[in-house]
Amino acid sequence: MKHQIFADPEAVAAAAADELIELASDAIAERGVFHIALSGGSTPKRLFDVLVTRGRDALPWDSIDLWWSDERTVPPEHPDSNYGMARQHLLEPLGLTRVHRLAGEQDPAVAAASYEQALLSALGAPPVFDLVLLGMGKDGHTMSLFPGSPALTDPDRFVVANPVDSPLAGGRTTRLTLTPAAIMAARHTRFLITGSDKADALAGVLHGPPGRFPAQLVTGVDIRCFVDQAAAMRLEVT
Ligand code: 6PG
Repeated sequence: MKHQIFADPEAVAAAAADELIELASDAIAERGVFHIALSGGSTPKRLFDVLVTRGRDALPWDSIDLWWSDERTVPPEHPDSNYGMARQHLLEPLGLTRVHRLAGEQDPAVAAASYEQALLSALGAPPVFDLVLLGMGKDGHTMSLFPGSPALTDPDRFVVANPVDSPLAGGRTTRLTLTPAAIMAARHTRFLITGSDKADALAGVLHGPPGRFPAQLVTGVDIRCFVDQAAAMRLEVT
């Protein structure tokens, strides 16, 4: 997994926005559509704010379909909703409507099954996203694939209701999440990782033995980490 180190979180967001614009323009020129899976948490907020600042004309948004890699089992109005955060920071400011949200307010098993059906019918099995944007927790989780949770080893599904028990998830809860299989066929996969609290996990994911962190389960043809200096402080200088 290649990585690029940027000065700070703002530089990571700007670089991710620059590349997103390039990838989307190329995909739409070639295939007429760009399917992107968004992650949750706080890191994407900066990227969304950069995209809003650049204005609606910076991207052909009417040809961009937005999906989510995971969701908390809460309604969109809840402060923990990944969709709710994107709606506030991206969808409403730019008037975006081509969205496919995970229904956090529904029964988790039903929500996961219906999202999986929509995803596979739109993008095939395994789904071919044009771009998957991921974050990573300080425990090395990504999407809602928390250490020790059943979704890590589910061989058959692409979207699951994943029972998790982690202080990083607010304790014991159920999360809706894509599985590693759901993103393995993505054309481009980008981790956006910032902050010194991620430094140990990032070093383990990039340079440590395989199999220790859920983020190491992510495979694909073009995976890159955009990290800031704080998150990179444990990386060996190569
Ligand atoms: C979520 C995310 C999760 C996130 C990491 C990093 O629903 O929380 O999908 O995987 O990317 O927890 O979160 P931060 O960006 O807030 O550090």
